[in-house]
Amino acid sequence: MKLFCLAYCSTATKPLNLAEVRRLASNASQKNTAINITGCLVYSNNQFFQILEGSQENINSLYLKISKDPAHTNLKILCYNQIEIRMFRNWGMGLIETNKTKEILKVHFEKKFSPEELSPSQTIHFAKDIQKLFCP
Ligand SMILES: Cc1cc2nc3c(=O)[nH]c(=O)nc-3n(C[C@H](O)[C@H](O)[C@H](O)COP(=O)(O)O)c2cc1C
Repeated sequence: MKLFCLAYCSTATKPLNLAEVRRLASNASQKNTAINITGCLVYSNNQFFQILEGSQENINSLYLKISKDPAHTNLKILCYNQIEIRMFRNWGMGLIETNKTKEILKVHFEKKFSPEELSPSQTIHFAKDIQKLFCP
């Protein structure tokens, strides 16, 4: 089976607190595990950044479903590539809480977390840094 990776970012329609983001990630994780999707979710500065890894069919239909969710808007696909191995193989949907990512965010973003500015190669670089730290 060919593996694909889709990364996108979006803006929350209303600010979420940590408990709400944790619930979102934990629900997503359960559902994703059932369809062999892995990935990670970053939420900071009202912005989501999410990586989905899995079969093309599952990623496409999940992204379509997620894109219709009124909890966020301004979705932008940052990269969509075929991959050889998963970066987040142990995670149905790992939540990266911002208090743990301050250092990475400083390296990749000048001022505030603004994932919509990432080029495809910067997106992969950012994802790899997350993986190195949280999913080695
Ligand atoms: C930023 C964001 C990321 C999400 N990620 C996932 C995900 O990875 N997997 C998933 O099943 N649902 C995810 N959801 C929730 C879906 O959009 C949808 O609400 C949920 O899957 C409910 O589907 P159901 O009605 O089929 O149960 C996400 C929602 C948001 C706002």
